[in-house]
Amino acid sequence: MPDLSGKAAIVTGCASGIGAATVRRLAADGAQVLGTDLDAERGAALCAEVGAVFAVQDVSDRAAWPAIVGQAVAAFGRLDILVNNAGMVSGAGIGDLDDDAMFAAWDQVLAVNLTGTMAGCRAAIAAMRENPGVPKGAIVNIASTTAIAPLPTDVGYSASKGAVRVLSKSVASWCAQHQLNIRCNTVIPGATMTGILEAAEQHTPGLIAAVAKTSPLNRLADPSETAAAIAFLASDECPFMTGAEMLVDGGALSIHPGF
Ligand SMILES: NC(=O)c1ccc[n+]([C@@H]2O[C@H](COP(=O)([O-])OP(=O)(O)OC[C@H]3O[C@@H](n4cnc5c(N)ncnc54)[C@H](O)[C@@H]3O)[C@@H](O)[C@H]2O)c1
Repeated sequence: MPDLSGKAAIVTGCASGIGAATVRRLAADGAQVLGTDLDAERGAALCAEVGAVFAVQDVSDRAAWPAIVGQAVAAFGRLDILVNNAGMVSGAGIGDLDDDAMFAAWDQVLAVNLTGTMAGCRAAIAAMRENPGVPKGAIVNIASTTAIAPLPTDVGYSASKGAVRVLSKSVASWCAQHQLNIRCNTVIPGATMTGILEAAEQHTPGLIAAVAKTSPLNRLADPSETAAAIAFLASDECPFMTGAEMLVDGGALSIHPGF
C-alpha cells in the first residue's frame, strides 16, 4: 500500500461509490482527507466513519473552489492531493430530446464533469505551489472508458469525459513547464457498481448487464479496485508519471470487439 502519511487530500463526490472508496483508501493509507459532496447526509456520515473532514460542495460552482481548498489548508496546513471524482450522467443521446431539454442536460453535465474538474485543478495548483517547504502535489482526475468508446445514449457524459483526458494532460504539462512538482494524471474506470451506474440503468434499462459483459473478467469493478489506482497515482510511488492515464476497466478496452 502506498504511504500517504503526512499528506493532505481533497476528494470530491465522497458520499458514494468510487469517491467514498477513495476517502476510505486514502485515510487507510495515512492521509488526512477533506471529502466533499452535494449530498451532506451521506458525505458527512462517510467522512465521520473514517475520521475525515466533510464539506458540502457543488463542484460546478467555480467561485466556491478557492474556499474549499482554503478549508483543507486551514485544517491540515497544506494540500498534497486532489481527486476530482464527482460526476454525473445526463442520459441523453444527440437526437433524444427537444432543444431546451438537450442543451440544459448538456450544460449541466459539462459544468459538473468538466468545468468542475478544471476549476478544482486551478484552485488546487494555487494551494500546492504554496505548500510549506517546496511546491508539490498530485491531482487525479476521473474520466471513464466512455471517453474512448463513447455511449450513443449519453453524448454529454461521453464528451465531458473525453475532455477530462485532454484537460489532465494540459494541466500536467503546464505544471511541468513551470517546474511546480505537481503531477496530474487520469484514472479511466470501466463499469463499476455505484450510484451513477444505477442512474444510467434508469435511462437505459439493461445497461448494467450489458456493461458487465464488456470485461473479459465478466464482472463489474468494486469501487475499492478503482480507489487503489487513485491512491497509487496520488502517492510518491510514481514521480515520473504525469499526463498519464490508468485504465481500471477489467480489460474491457483490451479485447477485440468481436470476442
Ligand atoms: N461507476 C462507473 O461505472 C463509472 C465508470 C467510469 C467513470 N466513473 C466516474 O467515477 C466518478 C464517481 O462516480 P461513481 O461511479 O462513484 O458514482 P456515484 O453516483 O456513486 O457517485 C458520484 C458522487 O458525486 C456526487 N456529485 C454529483 N454531482 C456533484 C456535484 N455537482 N458536486 C459535488 N458532488 C457531486 C454525488 O452526490 C455522488 O456522491 C464519476 O466521475 C464517474 O463519471 C464511474
